[in-house]
Amino acid sequence: MKTVLVTGGAGFIGSNFIHYVLQTRDDVQKLVNLDLLTYAGNLENLADIENDPRYTFVQGDIRDRTAVKAIFDRCDFDTVVHFAAESHVDRSIEEPEVFLTTNVVGTQTLLDAARDHWKLAPEDKYSRAYKPGVRYLQVSTDEVYGALGKTGLFTETTPVSPNSPYSASKAGADMVVRAYGVTYGMPVNITRCSNNYGPCQFPEKLIPLMIHNALDDKVLPVYGDGMQVRDWLHVKDHCAAICAVLDRGEPGEIYNVGGNNERSNLEIVRLVLRALDKPESLITHVKDRPGHDRRYAINNEKITTTLGWQPVYTFDQGIAETIRWYLDNRSWVEHVISGEYQNYYKKMYGT
Ligand SMILES: NC(=O)c1ccc[n+]([C@@H]2O[C@H](COP(=O)([O-])OP(=O)(O)OC[C@H]3O[C@@H](n4cnc5c(N)ncnc54)[C@H](O)[C@@H]3O)[C@@H](O)[C@H]2O)c1
Repeated sequence: MKTVLVTGGAGFIGSNFIHYVLQTRDDVQKLVNLDLLTYAGNLENLADIENDPRYTFVQGDIRDRTAVKAIFDRCDFDTVVHFAAESHVDRSIEEPEVFLTTNVVGTQTLLDAARDHWKLAPEDKYSRAYKPGVRYLQVSTDEVYGALGKTGLFTETTPVSPNSPYSASKAGADMVVRAYGVTYGMPVNITRCSNNYGPCQFPEKLIPLMIHNALDDKVLPVYGDGMQVRDWLHVKDHCAAICAVLDRGEPGEIYNVGGNNERSNLEIVRLVLRALDKPESLITHVKDRPGHDRRYAINNEKITTTLGWQPVYTFDQGIAETIRWYLDNRSWVEHVISGEYQNYYKKMYGT
């Protein structure tokens, strides 16, 4: 990993990943962040490293073939870590089209650029030889597997069975990545991670939304009975898992990433209220969203046993640090909550 293209690096996980790489990896000489800066992209997340000589930001759309090719022409990337996506399930129910174009077509555009730049004999359709050391990593999600009942865990061989336009678009992208690996012999990996939490998450997602509302004594909207279960992982543990796959992952392989840390949404909301010393009377149950998956849980045995990755954060430590971060960075949250977000919020929750 010497010259890295990170897409979607102004978002939640991408910006944490850029910090993680610049802090921990001396082998990375250049890191380019390609981000369109949609409502979810926020350069404030990267303000502290914008003058790092190894880091460059490029505003651009992963669906724009000419722009993506130009970036590959300028920088001789050996690694692509693809985070850029439309990532919020609720939004995908309202506006599925942009999820399909960004998440599926955007992925294909990147794959084409990487293949054309890395293939040693581009005009030979049977050649499967690539520049040494190159790797394309697709950051995917456990949501592609659909929902679990009360028991069971997703393994890498669980059939893909997405239930929302978001997860369908991520599953579609995964299929394209797999096909480029099989058909063109591209050195690709897919990571499928569970729910992340940590600093710089857009306050439409559960944990920052609840912290923000509780601090303002606003109601905390909980979908349905709130018993939807997710496996929560600290974002830094996710970043470390991605690096483990880039360093030691077998080309063509999928790796599930999870923290063995199942919690219901209601449990998370109550925990936030307790930490902020706010009453449970703020909780308001709202009509559940259509197609809401009941439970996700990851079997992380493959990545732990074959690559030696383990989550470092305990949930107690991670959530306490995360709540502290949102308390210490209230101006960050205020800046993010723009007029656009307010309109969206009203549309979703009607208040
Ligand atoms: N958040 C989670 O819990 C979680 C869990 C597993 C996997 N993932 C995956 O990780 C990735 C990052 O998730 P996140 O939560 O950081 O998302 P995010 O919504 O916070 O960030 C997405 C970023 O992508 C950028 N982007 C969107 N469309 C673009 C386009 N057409 N061209 C260039 N940039 C574009 C946005 O500006 C934003 O900076 C996504 O692919 C998501 O599916 C997320």
